[in-house]
Amino acid sequence: MEGVMHDIRNIVILTGAGISAESGLATFRGPDGLWEGHRVEDICTPQALARDARLVHDFYDARRAALAGVEPNPAHQALAALDAAWDGALLIVTQNVDDLHERAGAKRMLHMHGALLSALCAGCNKAVPWQGAMPPGSVCDGCGRPKLRPDIVFFGEMPYEMDRIEAALMRCDLFVSIGTSGAVYPAAGFVQTARHHGARTLELNLDPSAGSVYFHETRLGPASELVPAWVADVLGD
Ligand code: APR
Repeated sequence: MEGVMHDIRNIVILTGAGISAESGLATFRGPDGLWEGHRVEDICTPQALARDARLVHDFYDARRAALAGVEPNPAHQALAALDAAWDGALLIVTQNVDDLHERAGAKRMLHMHGALLSALCAGCNKAVPWQGAMPPGSVCDGCGRPKLRPDIVFFGEMPYEMDRIEAALMRCDLFVSIGTSGAVYPAAGFVQTARHHGARTLELNLDPSAGSVYFHETRLGPASELVPAWVADVLGD
């Protein structure tokens, strides 16, 4: 569908915890953020998992349980509508581990930091759906070893699908960042990669971020308002 931005064909969208905030899921660095009550090094590192797997599993079990009580918000729904209607290339790269983009209907997307509803075998690297309670020592049905862990990319581990992401960033005409503080690399550097390859860059966020200086345009406000308005503009609604 030809939108009002006639020179835009290929879009990459990066989302962070802020897009899920209005659904009721905590962000990491805001008031009551997830990192306010925990130290990253105790929860979200390979060393933390080796030191106290029960603490790590409990943290992610609580976040998984919170998913049951929340719904996608208008920002997730608008991106899913764009995904369905846009006839150019589009890729939603989420840093989030919730399933709200999928539940809103997004298809052309990937989780670069893993997913709460997936378990990973530290023995054979097989990812399987997270089924109910999967305490430390749960057995992998692929290799039979008691090595299943949360399929979350911990600090110090390589995010998923970086080759696919970088190829999309180099090809895109428009890069949009939604609901992220720009605090964590490599995601925080995506805007510079896209801009270096000629893309226009737009940030939709509640507050200025560490990356705002790299965007051609920053719009401040809640995602549930900014994202539907931007999608309507792109689709020429
Ligand atoms: N609408 C839009 N933006 C919002 C909203 C909202 N309703 N509420 C909060 N925000 C913005 C905040 O202004 C902030 O810039 O969302 C951002 C959330 O920042 P963080 O809590 O740092 O979350 P995120 O950027 O996703 O963190 C990146 O850090 O800890 C790691 O792996 C974790 O993926 C995460 C990564």
